[in-house]
Amino acid sequence: MAEETKGRLTTRTMAMPADTNPAGDVFGGWVLSQMDIAAGICASQRAQQRAVTVSVDGMSFIQPVKVGDILGVYTDVVEVGRTSMKIHVEAWVRRGQIGSREKVTEAIFKFVALDQDGNPTPVPDKNDLPEYAAEDCSL
Ligand SMILES: CC(C)(COP(=O)(O)OP(=O)(O)OC[C@H]1O[C@@H](n2cnc3c(N)ncnc32)[C@H](O)[C@@H]1OP(=O)(O)O)[C@@H](O)C(=O)NCCC(=O)NCCS
Repeated sequence: MAEETKGRLTTRTMAMPADTNPAGDVFGGWVLSQMDIAAGICASQRAQQRAVTVSVDGMSFIQPVKVGDILGVYTDVVEVGRTSMKIHVEAWVRRGQIGSREKVTEAIFKFVALDQDGNPTPVPDKNDLPEYAAEDCSL
């Protein structure tokens, strides 16, 4: 059975020629930055405030990304601490716009919610989230 995506589709973008390494494949750092952007959207929605990346674990580059691939990033909150959240992030591509979907990378990003002074601040209980934010988060 084909592997299924985990989490919500958070961002979509197209890999462009400027994003390639000297071998012509898309640079891993570009893919990582797309995952960080998506995880940041997910974390700040869950925290209802600014959140910063504090660690990235288990980053796997499973398949290359090619110019013209549509990269979709899926996010899922898998753990909530006092001020931190772990977000499972997967990036999938559709090759040539209509091709089959393939998982290219995955990792666990940890974010910390920050208050207006830049200090760690508690992540609210899920029951206190506005409906739109709660709908997108399993935890
Ligand atoms: C995130 C940051 C504010 C945490 O500061 P801190 O003084 O370590 O804060 P605390 O000790 O109160 O820890 C806050 C939370 O972060 C977690 N944490 C802190 N450092 C961590 C690390 N290196 N790895 C994993 N988790 C970490 C703690 O476990 C804690 O989680 P909890 O509240 O859910 O239990 C600080 O490390 C920072 O500013 N880092 C840079 C973030 C950044 O700029 N990211 C973008 C990179 S370009």
